[in-house]
Amino acid sequence: MEKQSVKPADGKLGIMVVGLGAVTSTFMTGVLMARKGLAKPVGSMTQYDKIRVGKGDDKKYLAYSDIVPLAKLDDIEFGAWDVYPADAYRAAVYAEVLKEKDIEPVKDELQKIVPFKAAFDKNFAKRLDGDNVKDCKTRWDMVEQIREDIRNFKKEHGCSRIVVAWAASTEIYVPVYEPVHGTLAALEKAMKDNDTEHIAPSMCYAYAALAEGAPFIMGAPNTTVDIPAMWEMAEKTKMPIAGKDFKTGQTLVKSGFAPIIGTRCLGLSGWFSTNILGNRDGLVLDEPDNFRTKEVSKLSTLESILVPECQPDLYTDYYHKVRINYYPPRNDNKEGWDNIDIFGWMGYPMQIKINFLCRDSILAAPLLLDLCLLSDLAARAGRYGIQRFLSFFLKSPMHDYTKGEVPVNHLFQQYTMLKNALREMGGYEPDEEID
Ligand SMILES: NC(=O)c1ccc[n+]([C@@H]2O[C@H](COP(=O)([O-])OP(=O)(O)OC[C@H]3O[C@@H](n4cnc5c(N)ncnc54)[C@H](O)[C@@H]3O)[C@@H](O)[C@H]2O)c1
Repeated sequence: MEKQSVKPADGKLGIMVVGLGAVTSTFMTGVLMARKGLAKPVGSMTQYDKIRVGKGDDKKYLAYSDIVPLAKLDDIEFGAWDVYPADAYRAAVYAEVLKEKDIEPVKDELQKIVPFKAAFDKNFAKRLDGDNVKDCKTRWDMVEQIREDIRNFKKEHGCSRIVVAWAASTEIYVPVYEPVHGTLAALEKAMKDNDTEHIAPSMCYAYAALAEGAPFIMGAPNTTVDIPAMWEMAEKTKMPIAGKDFKTGQTLVKSGFAPIIGTRCLGLSGWFSTNILGNRDGLVLDEPDNFRTKEVSKLSTLESILVPECQPDLYTDYYHKVRINYYPPRNDNKEGWDNIDIFGWMGYPMQIKINFLCRDSILAAPLLLDLCLLSDLAARAGRYGIQRFLSFFLKSPMHDYTKGEVPVNHLFQQYTMLKNALREMGGYEPDEEID
């Protein structure tokens, strides 16, 4: 097979993250520490995973960077925006995710990462009240100011490419509204008319990134790029987009565990997921309008794995509930409980309980790294629009719902999609052979 013409990863890659909170500061600290050989980037597929390429006698297992040209950790420059003015060092200390010994060795570098003023509207996250905020007359003005930040950052840091990722707070739920979100022209008009109801600040970041020739990743469950207008923008600018919502803890478990039930043809009568967390993310999600965005994203996982229409005896009318409770004492150390009511032979009930004591940002940081590196790769490979091969990393993977496409939530199907995209970009045959 012809090797796809993927441009080399020459020069520096600027990773600009919206939100310099727990996830972002943990991500940046980890990359800087790994660069110094003082920590290992555990959990990152781009740094650890090896996949098979070729078949039979020709098969070999290669790291991603031996298959495709990936940006190196040494070549990354970090930038950010935040509502609070704290630099990345102060943000990491505030987040209390990492111990002092894991932050201090890169203190100088972290202190140099000072956030740009945020494009922010308090109506979209009521519980935040920082003052590092841009003064914007309209949403269009917001876009223009973000574009300027991106251009300045790129020039100052001598980057050849930029990726913009959202790891900021979850905004309130913005349902898709056809008259504004349906086409690019309508979206641009609404930005110029300052339609603050339907244009979330996150949409301004996404539009600005794409306009500046940078891929955009949505790490929260916000609607942002999950609208036809943004797909049109991605097509126009030939840029990749990915989202939504990092698949870190409970949903990762769900998308990996549900296939056990489905593959074994066991029945499901209910799945109750609840968790407690006490970081700033938990505080924002304590607001019902913000939680609604998360709930929609978390609920979508099971529907496409255990499909009632395909197996009415097994999956009709199962009760699926997801709760998140803000509980300050735990900070970033989330505890999740899943109670799964299943049934077997002749309908006899059984129960499964999963108790995951995880660390939110420790799980999210490698996802952020992988999504940035792989989106940059996709852009260099000339792939644009929704990057379905990145579904593996996301709770509510984007898909073209206007064409009746269904999302792929099954973790192992998602992994096949990821591997095949890498094989294709590396000039190997995509396949589904057993490794
Ligand atoms: N950690 C996880 O496991 C996980 C999983 C999935 C999704 N997420 C999402 O990732 C995001 C970040 O999580 P976190 O724990 O780092 O939260 P955090 O509250 O620590 O950090 C978010 C930061 O975003 C800033 N912010 C909010 N609106 C902004 C805007 N318009 N512009 C610039 N900055 C803005 C806030 O001031 C805050 O510092 C959240 O939306 C969360 O839901 C996290």
